[in-house]
Amino acid sequence: MNKYDNLENMKLKLPKISDIANKVVFVRVDYNVPLKKVGNKIVVVDDERIKASLETISFLLENNATVVLASHLGRPKSSHDMHFSLQPIADYMNGSLNIPIKFVKTCIGKEVEEAIIQAKNKITTSNETTVNKAHNDNSIQPSIFLLENLRFHKEEEENDLEFSKKLASHMDVYINEAFSTTHRAHASIVGITKFLPAFAGFALEKEVNTFAKMMSNPKRPLIIVLGGAKISDKVGAIEHLANIADIVLVGGAVANSFLKADGHETFKSYIEDVPADLKKKNIDYVDVACSLIEEHRTEKMLMNGYIPMPKILHPIDVIAAYSLEEKDPEKTFIIDLTKESDFKKSEKLFYLDIGPKTIKLYQEILGHSKTIFWNGPMGVWENPIFSRGTKRIASTIAMSEAETIIGGGDTIGAINHFGLEKQFNYISAAGGAALDLLSGKMLPGIKPILEEK
Ligand code: 3PG
Repeated sequence: MNKYDNLENMKLKLPKISDIANKVVFVRVDYNVPLKKVGNKIVVVDDERIKASLETISFLLENNATVVLASHLGRPKSSHDMHFSLQPIADYMNGSLNIPIKFVKTCIGKEVEEAIIQAKNKITTSNETTVNKAHNDNSIQPSIFLLENLRFHKEEEENDLEFSKKLASHMDVYINEAFSTTHRAHASIVGITKFLPAFAGFALEKEVNTFAKMMSNPKRPLIIVLGGAKISDKVGAIEHLANIADIVLVGGAVANSFLKADGHETFKSYIEDVPADLKKKNIDYVDVACSLIEEHRTEKMLMNGYIPMPKILHPIDVIAAYSLEEKDPEKTFIIDLTKESDFKKSEKLFYLDIGPKTIKLYQEILGHSKTIFWNGPMGVWENPIFSRGTKRIASTIAMSEAETIIGGGDTIGAINHFGLEKQFNYISAAGGAALDLLSGKMLPGIKPILEEK
């Protein structure tokens, strides 16, 4: 992937009315949403990604477009695995969201063609436009469709051009409204744009612009808080953001690699293994963390004037226990990493949350910020006895007067759990795509929908 040459000047192509009015529009959405079985029904647990696409859908319907929505769901191994069908999502949109959507049991071929022909006939006989008006009138055929899971065809993930062409047939225009999938070079994200005029959806534009502004022109100090279980997902973002941010606060299992790199014992704590290509080069994530710490060892941080301090900070104390499932707070330990502890440490200890001194230090630093980006919990917050660090940092960010941007599924899970979800300026439902963008990479799905210079 190329780097962006100038993020600030990057401009996405948005559809004008003349681009989409009365046209058949293929909208790539990301309805890869959590589902659960309730009785014999499958229900949508979190509809944020669906709701994010509604502004684009309404714009299209208001301009008499026929809207063909396409998405993946999960990672099905075969086309027959109905656990991954998008039918429950169509049912949810019809029911709970009152959107008159017709589900098409495939994503290419005759059935799609027939649905579009029917919709086109409807458009010539009716002038009905908005989503809900159409829902209340049974005589009106829906002009909005949801196709079956794109990944039921292996050609989707192979970015197969023949498959892309099939997806594009009978369509006039393509809109990408799936920011969270733009890091995938798949047929419905990249290949299809070779056959149709391609544009960005409104939600995708908002996501990209929010991150672009944060990276190119943030209000300073810009503080990045990174945690979570896996450092592999975040290493590119840490490398890139460390150059942009005023300070990077590290927590969660990601911090273990930094602790080890800084000479601390981490016992049985989780340190992610590197993929085979890095292993061959004899590099592990502790080496990566070590280089980052070295590179940014003493910088000037804007806090009531500039003061010298390391740019990347890891915890100075941690909460440890012998098991992630520990229920008894008496069986947890605070390990102060700045001094020798007074209890006998054991090789069997796991570090499972940031400690009270770290919380205080991070809160103090966050108090000076003007922009905060947070991705990844500070500990195993799902277990109440290891949730304190994540909860305190979440509350501090929520109450901050800084511009606050939150990203990643686990972080959103945590803030929902603590009831703080309404208290941030921007919540991005994109995980991998956001982290790739924050690594400074040109995402394969963004390139085709950029305004030409
Ligand atoms: C996501 O949830 O991050 C996107 O839908 C992409 O899903 P994927 O990681 O299965 O490609």
